[in-house]
Amino acid sequence: MGAGDLGAADARRRDTNATDPDRSVHVRAPGKINVFLRVGEVREDGYHDLATAYQAVSLYEDVVAHHDDGFSVSFTGSVDVSSLPTDSSNLAMRAARALARRTGYRGGVHLEIDKNVPIAGGMGGGSADAAAALVACDALWGTALSREQLLKLAARLGADVPFALMGGTAIGTDRGDRLSPALARGTFHWVLAFSDEGMSTPHVYTALDAHRERYAADIRPVSTAPTVEANVLQALRAGDPEMLADCLSNDLQAPALRLRPELAEVLELGETSGALAGIVSGSGPTVALLAADAESAIDLHVALSASGLRAARVTGPVAGARVVAD
Ligand code: C5P
Repeated sequence: MGAGDLGAADARRRDTNATDPDRSVHVRAPGKINVFLRVGEVREDGYHDLATAYQAVSLYEDVVAHHDDGFSVSFTGSVDVSSLPTDSSNLAMRAARALARRTGYRGGVHLEIDKNVPIAGGMGGGSADAAAALVACDALWGTALSREQLLKLAARLGADVPFALMGGTAIGTDRGDRLSPALARGTFHWVLAFSDEGMSTPHVYTALDAHRERYAADIRPVSTAPTVEANVLQALRAGDPEMLADCLSNDLQAPALRLRPELAEVLELGETSGALAGIVSGSGPTVALLAADAESAIDLHVALSASGLRAARVTGPVAGARVVAD
């Protein structure tokens, strides 16, 4: 058999897979922490220019895509999923529809989503669902878009969706959706402290703008072209948690703390319980506490749980949205 015959056999197998009505595809996508987030000015489209260093962590969304005539979504999970929309406003469903439109695919999909990333928690859970839906439908339908094509579709769905697709460690600029991978060595150990109630990302950005406007005379001018500081890149490259702890920074932390003052106590408790440093993740309210190593992360997790907080131990960086062989 020549190479051409092998290619044809592969293509036939792919076609059969794409149309087998009982076949399903399972994709896993990670949540993220912004270890550095600098917010610039508000733009005409309502978004803010920003510069961020993302790290994907081992708290996952699992999405299983099944062939169907229409588009639908259902949720299970370790978090309360009762508030999530299952109509066409759902971001994962919008992702599936966008892929069908982009490729001319005529069928539909049922998405089963098992959620572990907190809802409205500042960890990009909804974005991970959308990224996973793109990868799952692309594999299920055999539409075979390239990573670049999927990244482009992802950027239209939300600022954090491309990173959930890419995973690892990356620098995000523009709205956070223009990505370049960052060199990172080793594994960082985090303990996440969850809140019972989520926070609206637009509210936190609006609170930041309001504060900046009110105190314009007293604070340094807002950067027009924010960048990620060199010491952050160096800490990630070195895989050095002490160095990273010294440069964790998030412009959304102050407005998040103003909206939820009790988060300051969580940060303090983390730091007095052995964390190297803590940070509000993205727009919050999840607090990410950086530990020196796996053992200190276990101790920290025990201490937070003993204080009545819901917490989880995760590591990063991990891969982006990927098909899982069941
Ligand atoms: O893109 P995504 O839907 O995740 O963004 C949610 C909201 O967060 C936006 O509607 C906007 O209010 C705010 N946002 C922003 N600037 C960014 C990213 C998000 O103002 N770069």
